[in-house]
Amino acid sequence: MDKYEKVIELAKRRGFLWPSFEIYGSTAGFWDFGPLGTALKRRIKEIWIDFHVIRGGFYEIETPTMCIEDVFVASGHVNNFADLMVECKKCGEAFKVDSAMEKCPECGGSLGEVCAFNLMFKTSIGPGSKRIGYLRPETAQGMFVDFHRLLRFYRDRLPFGVAQIGKVYRNEISPRQGTLRLREFTIAEVEIFIDPRKTEHPNFEDVKNVVLQLYPAKEQLSDGKTLKLSLKDAVEKGIIKQQFVGYHIAQIQLFLLEIGFSQEKIRFRQHKNDEIAHYAIDCWDAEALTDRFGWIEIVGIANRGDYDLKAHAKHSQNEMTVFVPYDKPITRERMVIKPNMRAIGRKFKDNAAKVTEALRTLSLDQFEEGTIRVGDEVIPLTKDLVKYELVSEEISGERVLPHVIEPSYGIDRIVYVLLEHSFDEEEVEGERRVVLRLPPNIAPIQGVVLPLLSRDGLDKKGRWVERSLRKNGFLVDYDESGTIGRRYRRHDEIGTPFAITIDHQTLDDDTVTIRDRDSMKQIRVLIGDVPSVMGELIAGGVIFEKAGTLI
Ligand code: GLY
Repeated sequence: MDKYEKVIELAKRRGFLWPSFEIYGSTAGFWDFGPLGTALKRRIKEIWIDFHVIRGGFYEIETPTMCIEDVFVASGHVNNFADLMVECKKCGEAFKVDSAMEKCPECGGSLGEVCAFNLMFKTSIGPGSKRIGYLRPETAQGMFVDFHRLLRFYRDRLPFGVAQIGKVYRNEISPRQGTLRLREFTIAEVEIFIDPRKTEHPNFEDVKNVVLQLYPAKEQLSDGKTLKLSLKDAVEKGIIKQQFVGYHIAQIQLFLLEIGFSQEKIRFRQHKNDEIAHYAIDCWDAEALTDRFGWIEIVGIANRGDYDLKAHAKHSQNEMTVFVPYDKPITRERMVIKPNMRAIGRKFKDNAAKVTEALRTLSLDQFEEGTIRVGDEVIPLTKDLVKYELVSEEISGERVLPHVIEPSYGIDRIVYVLLEHSFDEEEVEGERRVVLRLPPNIAPIQGVVLPLLSRDGLDKKGRWVERSLRKNGFLVDYDESGTIGRRYRRHDEIGTPFAITIDHQTLDDDTVTIRDRDSMKQIRVLIGDVPSVMGELIAGGVIFEKAGTLI
């Protein structure tokens, strides 16, 4: 068994991940999150929200997973969101074309023509087929089409960002990477709208020393080496082209470290020209190292430029620019034209009033185009019809089409990689011990209460501890079946960081033991202190050995 198989075996057996529709034989690209998987995913989403919404200052919104066709025509997904596909003429199996393929990998049959296959799930909205709808392949478009509302919400000031976590759908041609390539999955995205003339980040200093492992496009095409650089150096050397993008690359790394990734298994790979998404100017993927699949993308960060807002402005005929005031108004001189009433009167007699009116609304550029329509008549414009005048005007700002920086996290992949990175096996007293070394604040179950016996009042005390922990907001389990050793192992392999054991001494002095999953050391604490000690341990505010009396 390789590590992927071991992790998936554990994930299925213990209720993290289950193939969807299993009783009907399952379908590639769909996985259920079981009770522990859902709890783990919820913790990751909560920390993501804490990181980006609470600490990052980006509000969250929620938009439909189903979108009308106009949205994806404008965004370019109807035309461009496709993979190349080929079908086997013999067995009918479809394949994504990744490299030169001659024969069917399944049956050896000959292959048909290569064609483009759009990855969006298409449906119709309401009865009949007149109104086409698509399940969204990214949450981003829901945020772009709300731009005018968001701008008002943020009091017409750039930069601002908006976040969304939700399901997205991609009709992958032939997903063969288990839980890593899904047809329905959760992404967490932030769209940050910036003034393209101001690409420096106000908080860059906070993260400039973060060390990143970078794999720029240039290195991929030459020596294949990654570069280890501080963010500051990477931006100064022009490897990361924009401070704003760099700031968010560092934020992605900090988030991944916070939820338990190890730094040496994270790198940032820049997209090469032939792989960059149709909407992006520059794109980096945060990749995580996995045992079976090597480096896989878990977060993407794209500089989408003005692509989306420009496209939606054009298709919806709505204004998507922002008025950006200057620090101080500026004065500008401008040549204008004014109708020359005397010349117009002489030339157009009864029509003079109408010609004057038409000329009044004409700009200098339009005048120089040469003709003007007045009623049914097209009149040639000659210089004598107007007087040129230099006027000076005060300008307080200008309209700017924002650019968008977008970090986009694949939450389900993060869940899998975290399981794999946390998965550990060791030999303890001649037996194999499997441990999920998840950080305590991520673990799906934060503590388990274990009465040594299910009688003699130990069970009653145990239930009391369980209730007091639940009342204090901890997600805990209560387990009284099997030997204490088996019960410890059961919880080690699902990553429960702390086990609270009620033993005979509890009846004498009202103390219990707390066992640390990783070191297997134990401390004794007063039964009434269990919730506060657990709180400190989970938050990492105290060293385990110092949180009670070490035994
Ligand atoms: N919005 C990012 C993506 O579609 O991958």
